[in-house]
Amino acid sequence: MLPRRSLLPQSLLCLIQVYLTLAQHTQLTLDNLASFSASTLPNPPTFSLPTSGNLSVSIALCSSQATSLPRFFLTNDSSISQPGPSDLGQPNVYEIFLDDFGLGNWTGPVNSQGVLAVSNIGQSTFEVGVSNSAPLHQLLDTLPLLGDTTSNQAFLFSPPFSPPSYTAPTYPNYTLPPANLTFPATPSPPPDFTMFVIPTSQSVLSSMPHTGCALSAAASTGSNNVVTQPTSASQGMWLRDSDGWRWQWLVNGLTPQTNYTAYAVQDGAKVSGPINFVTKTASFSCPIVHSLPFCPSAAWAVPLPAPSDPSQGHNAHTLPSSLVDPLISVLTNFTTMLTTFPCGRDEYSPLVSCADCQAAYRTWFCAVSLPRCGEFPPTAPVAAPSAPATSSALPQQQPAQQPLPALMPQPTSVPPRSPFLPAFPATYDALLPCLETCNAVDRACPPFLQFKCPLPKYTASASYGVGYIDSGNEGEMGGGSTGAAQDRWGNVWCNAG
Ligand SMILES: *[C@@H]1O[C@H](CO)[C@@H](O)[C@H](O)[C@H]1NC(C)=O
Ligand SMILES: *[C@@H]1O[C@H](CO)[C@@H](O)[C@H](O)[C@H]1NC(C)=O
Ligand SMILES: *[C@@H]1O[C@H](CO)[C@@H](O)[C@H](O)[C@H]1NC(C)=O
Ligand SMILES: *[C@@H]1O[C@H](CO)[C@@H](O)[C@H](O)[C@H]1NC(C)=O
Ligand SMILES: *[C@@H]1O[C@H](CO)[C@@H](O)[C@H](O)[C@H]1NC(C)=O
Ligand SMILES: *[C@@H]1O[C@H](CO)[C@@H](O)[C@H](O)[C@H]1NC(C)=O
Ligand SMILES: *[C@@H]1O[C@H](CO)[C@@H](O)[C@H](O)[C@H]1NC(C)=O
Repeated sequence: MLPRRSLLPQSLLCLIQVYLTLAQHTQLTLDNLASFSASTLPNPPTFSLPTSGNLSVSIALCSSQATSLPRFFLTNDSSISQPGPSDLGQPNVYEIFLDDFGLGNWTGPVNSQGVLAVSNIGQSTFEVGVSNSAPLHQLLDTLPLLGDTTSNQAFLFSPPFSPPSYTAPTYPNYTLPPANLTFPATPSPPPDFTMFVIPTSQSVLSSMPHTGCALSAAASTGSNNVVTQPTSASQGMWLRDSDGWRWQWLVNGLTPQTNYTAYAVQDGAKVSGPINFVTKTASFSCPIVHSLPFCPSAAWAVPLPAPSDPSQGHNAHTLPSSLVDPLISVLTNFTTMLTTFPCGRDEYSPLVSCADCQAAYRTWFCAVSLPRCGEFPPTAPVAAPSAPATSSALPQQQPAQQPLPALMPQPTSVPPRSPFLPAFPATYDALLPCLETCNAVDRACPPFLQFKCPLPKYTASASYGVGYIDSGNEGEMGGGSTGAAQDRWGNVWCNAG
């Protein structure tokens, strides 16, 4: 006999089972963050997943007790209604493990029915998100960027997004950007970023997960000294360099000489960071200068009189025209001189163009014309840098011994390095430009301009930070003592511009 009679009731049974189990599960909806604790978790603690050829399920822990972490089990097998520890090892049953930040994810096909089950919720709260594209919760692989600090402020950038598309100019109409740059249209809609700034010593940092929902929760209690900066508190979007647009914030109300930890969180769920920075001593008196279209990467403390609203720093509108006009004029004249070369028709290098020369010159010129104020680290530093400020690996044990920053005392008797800068009534320590910023111009510009940088082994260290990025040996790239102008831990050695 053919097993016909038993087949039909069996599949009917399956179907009934599917409907029964479906009815029991709380349905998760796509592209939506839902958060749960013991008191809001459905009973049984299971969720049904939307079907998708490639579903991403992500979990973020919002609060937890270190002693007892919840576990998350997932199945895309319709015959299992509440996957748990005892189902592990069966095909199509998965556990979502949480990483050190408190983030976890699973990506795969859910063709007929999928279930997410939670066990051991305890006192924890968590957030779950499901998506047809990338996981809603993630650790971004780009970091926020520190511009600079004063005694009670920090100038911070989100990680970059929407890199601009440049079309290189071509001969015979080889037109270079004007000295006073105009930016292309801002990305629309822009990504939403919130910056969280927390004193590094704050114990909440070591006890909580480092997720968007945990940071928001820590900020909302008001007792953790978490400074929250949504995009609405920002200085707007800024095209600092070819990496792309960034939100930028001038964070006020910080404590002098304090190490802070900063995270940028996109859409409440994508975490970028952490980075550290240290505020200056209370006597530090140089204001932050930022948002200059002619010097787009400048965002640092400059020896200038305080702006009328110190909480906003100086920007292109508050700087005296006796400073701005000559800066634009020099950049304009440089561009005029550069384009006496038949740019785009003749090549002076197989690697670089007149546009590269102009960009490198702008960066260097801004770094030397807008001196940066710095400060010696208050205590003998113990940690040495490892990764430059672009990697997002977690803190590692670092070798001792760390170079001091390239600081040069500037007594009031010394005339300012930049002839356009008004006299500054106090002594300060100048954080010198990195020599590499000068060498970049030398490498990018046609030889007829005769742009020359001082040689490392002779006079360079009087006016530049030497040997940090590239080794101190003449013309040798790489191998410097720190490998970068600054790192993600808040050490700053020279001004890259
Ligand atoms: C479950 O996921 C596995 C691997 O991710 C996949 O091979 C399988 O086809 C999926 N099953 C269903 C029913 O979606
Ligand atoms: C599924 O989505 C992930 C994350 O977006 C992606 O990396 C992966 O390539 C996708 N897989 C398939 C088979 O489309
Ligand atoms: C998803 O989880 C894996 C570890 O299971 C991790 O390596 C990966 O980075 C996570 N993906 C995202 C986008 O966070
Ligand atoms: C030359 O290029 C610039 C910028 O790309 C453009 O604005 C201008 O119209 C062009 N001029 C001619 C004559 O093509
Ligand atoms: C520079 O350009 C900005 C707009 O990008 C404009 O507001 C400002 O007035 C210009 N400054 C000078 C000195 O031309
Ligand atoms: C730029 O060139 C113009 C015209 O040659 C000149 O008048 C001006 O002084 C130059 N600007 C600077 C800052 O050298
Ligand atoms: C700030 O604190 C972190 C964590 O303790 C540390 O790794 C970092 O070196 C400190 N930064 C500075 C500049 O002291």
